[in-house]
Amino acid sequence: MELKTKRLILREKKKSDFKSIRENINNINVSRYMSVIPHPYTDKDAIWWIGHSAKKRKEKPRKDYQFGITIKPSDKVVGGIGLVITNEGGVADIGCWIGEEYWRKGYVFEATVRVINYAFDDLKLKKVVLFAAVENVGSNKLIKKLGLKFVKKKKKALVVESTGKVHDTNVYEISRDEWNIK
Ligand SMILES: CC(C)(COP(=O)(O)OP(=O)(O)OC[C@H]1O[C@@H](n2cnc3c(N)ncnc32)[C@H](O)[C@@H]1OP(=O)(O)O)[C@@H](O)C(=O)NCCC(=O)NCCS
Repeated sequence: MELKTKRLILREKKKSDFKSIRENINNINVSRYMSVIPHPYTDKDAIWWIGHSAKKRKEKPRKDYQFGITIKPSDKVVGGIGLVITNEGGVADIGCWIGEEYWRKGYVFEATVRVINYAFDDLKLKKVVLFAAVENVGSNKLIKKLGLKFVKKKKKALVVESTGKVHDTNVYEISRDEWNIK
């Protein structure tokens, strides 16, 4: 399965993507506010993640959608965006990252818009939730630019494997009725 945007293809990962994933995520500037990304990040870690995503996508009903971000015309996976339907049903958490050399080009904004549209139009979800460590300036700004509204601050909600640090997070959400970017 894949989702297309003007500049990107978001697609399921395959085993041969391990090297480009490792190259882009083995960077503390990328993993510093992400929960389960070890640092250093090895080929073995990437292969595990690809296999784990493949297992999750076979679950029925499917609740976990993990896309690799590729920038046309390249087929290299240089980032990731995941949508996980939570126990509440009709609600999904979205998380995202991209390699540092691709920052500030609007790529993750473009990817997230596509995934939110998929959540509302295709999966018929009611609400999507994104959260960011309070210190993660880029992520908080990205989420605000997407138009999500701030809901609450959660104390010590993010435990980061790469640094061993614990962060408070800002939680944001938007409902299908409020969402208006196509
Ligand atoms: C946060 C992150 C996903 C943003 O991705 P990106 O592709 O660089 O973001 P975009 O270029 O689409 O930016 C969209 C908006 O977000 C804001 N933004 C993004 N990165 C920013 C930064 N480093 N500083 C300030 N604002 C930033 C800007 O408002 C930007 O719009 P503008 O360029 O028109 O001003 C990226 O920096 C990243 O992968 N960080 C490491 C992983 C991570 O922390 N992920 C989030 C937690 S799951």
